[in-house]
Amino acid sequence: MRSRRIGAALLLLAPLAAVVTAGPALAADCSTYPWMDERRSPEQRARALLAASSPHQIYRWLVEQPANNPRQTQWAGDVVYPVQVPCTPTVVYTDGPDGIRFTDGVTAFPATIATAATWNERLAYVKGAAQADEGYRKGKNVILAPGIASGRTPLSGRTPEYLGEDALLSGLMAAAGARGVQSDDRVLATLKHYVANEQELDRQTSSSNADERTLRQVYDLPFEIAAKRAGPASIMCSYNQVNGIYACEHPRQNSVLKDDVGFDGYVMSDFGSVHSTAASLVNGLDQELNRPIWFTPARLDAALAAGQITRARIGAAALRVVTAYIRGGLFDHPLPATPVADVSTPAHKTIARTVAEQGAVLLKNVNSTLPIKPGEGTTIAVIGSTASESAHSVCSLPWRFGNPTTMRCEDLVTPLAGITARAARAGATVTYDNGGDPAAAAVTAAGADIAVVFGYQRAGEFSDLADLRLQGGGDELISAVAAANPRTVVVLQTGSAVEMPWLDQVPAVLQNWYGGEQMGPALAALLFGDVNPSGKLPMTFPRSLADTPTAGDIARYPGVVVDGIRQVSYSEGLQVGYRWYAARGVDPLFAFGYGLSYTSFAYRDLEVTGDGRDGVRIRFRLTNTGKRWGTEVAQAYVALPSSTGEPAKRLVGWSRVTLGPGRSRTVQIDLNRSDLADLHLLQYFDPARSGWVTARGAYGFTVGGSSTATLHDTLHVR
Ligand code: BGC
Repeated sequence: MRSRRIGAALLLLAPLAAVVTAGPALAADCSTYPWMDERRSPEQRARALLAASSPHQIYRWLVEQPANNPRQTQWAGDVVYPVQVPCTPTVVYTDGPDGIRFTDGVTAFPATIATAATWNERLAYVKGAAQADEGYRKGKNVILAPGIASGRTPLSGRTPEYLGEDALLSGLMAAAGARGVQSDDRVLATLKHYVANEQELDRQTSSSNADERTLRQVYDLPFEIAAKRAGPASIMCSYNQVNGIYACEHPRQNSVLKDDVGFDGYVMSDFGSVHSTAASLVNGLDQELNRPIWFTPARLDAALAAGQITRARIGAAALRVVTAYIRGGLFDHPLPATPVADVSTPAHKTIARTVAEQGAVLLKNVNSTLPIKPGEGTTIAVIGSTASESAHSVCSLPWRFGNPTTMRCEDLVTPLAGITARAARAGATVTYDNGGDPAAAAVTAAGADIAVVFGYQRAGEFSDLADLRLQGGGDELISAVAAANPRTVVVLQTGSAVEMPWLDQVPAVLQNWYGGEQMGPALAALLFGDVNPSGKLPMTFPRSLADTPTAGDIARYPGVVVDGIRQVSYSEGLQVGYRWYAARGVDPLFAFGYGLSYTSFAYRDLEVTGDGRDGVRIRFRLTNTGKRWGTEVAQAYVALPSSTGEPAKRLVGWSRVTLGPGRSRTVQIDLNRSDLADLHLLQYFDPARSGWVTARGAYGFTVGGSSTATLHDTLHVR
């Protein structure tokens, strides 16, 4: 099974050995074709192209490989097309939440969840732009990222590829990333995977069953926000069913994405997520990923003959694809004839390092254990296999196809290398133990002034996590090290939440996620205080798996198989992530939005004004009450009037504020009219009215450094 998938994956990246017929020679002068006339709008150009195309040339746009390899005419299964009209580009798709995959010479950025933890839209943007630049020079011009899910369960294997459990944070960060990719003007971004794609277990044979309000507010909303704010070229529909209908043939593609949200790009399928010809096309799928299976000329012709689809719908799908390609610059900026071997640059490496630094979350730090203040002769014990392994461990761990080759990470600077280099500058020395034997590691720890011990969790596509425990004996190792050295710092390299049974035994914990190739210098800078931590959790860390919204009810997770389909009941409804813990009065281990700094911040004087329809202004005073410069991600939450039945908390905005020691600033978070309307910040979805509603009543705002913020003010909306 696995090798078949790998084979399939390679096809995506390197289409079948082409049977290229000679066809008409490429026109010497593309400027004679109206679709190459840059004075026309992208849509006018696309219409001109389709008007000059034969029906089967138009069909080509409906499948990735024929669309993207204009002169190849034959595919497996005797699928034959005419050569495409002249002057259409070669297009190459590549996967890439964390970098351009399956190749070397590229920057391995930290995992997407680490990007989310920066709460820094600008950084997500520059990372996207850097990735697009690398993609283009590597000969790839569509990036299948960013990914969005809603963090329904931390067991979901692809949690590290997504942006956490809040619709606004996910939506805005995905929008920033997609805008960055598309800022290159020759590379397209794809939001994926639409929708309610919240587990890897039986992902192709499961149905996510949720009521309409839940779907709109929790699962559609991050896509809606990202689509509205970024204008991505495409959105990928997911493997799963939604309420019994496969996502790629679900009417939501039309009714929600295209009609309601106004998404004007094209919907593409995931790899093998199409199950029909007519139902998929009629319900909004525009392009089948990879090679022709369901949208072959023969099947399209048969569906036309049977009256199941129309030529107009085929034309509309093609128009979306061609318009998106032209708008995104693919027609005007052909891929380089020869890909560049090494496209990573010092500037890109700096971005990777900055994401790792800003995305790291300081979870615990008592007795000023951190930053490490080494003197001449200080010894630091670094412990744990993932502190030193090469790319084959933790560069960026979407453990795809059971191996680490998705990102080669040949430029990885390991934590051990980074810490050793930084310690040497301070005259300190580092001892290393791979942690394979906790007793031996304890001896190493006992002989040092401070111990830095690494715990890991591998998570990735194709399977969910079995539990939220550290892997490789991490819990035992940390306990043993902590017992030997009271100054033990835990560094966590995980893609999702983990339980921390040893938390009371250690004074400091730093969450590093999958830190990418520059994790070594980034970690060293954080541990030694050259950089002050500012990351905030984009997902709740529960005390135990049993506290999570889907625990204790197999109907919710993993779902119950009926007639070959795993029926997953989303009966927790709106109470996903921090909303669940608030509703149940369950204290998480670390709340959504939480993260410490080496300095401290105080909030006061919250004042919320506005009418709630044309605008809301949230103002408060933030003071750096500590002794260092620091950056705080100040967050604003709202509780809607109780008549709405909404959860007690909803993130409505945030601001990253940098302040010197003792300094104060008035922070202002403005929710303007378009934010309120487009992002539905104060609205709820009313299925009866099939629309979003702003209720009259009292809106309780809170601001602070996490979702447990308490500084409060009320706004009355009439
Ligand atoms: C994944 C997608 C990915 C596609 C192409 C699928 O297995 O679900 O996220 O873009 O493969 O590699």
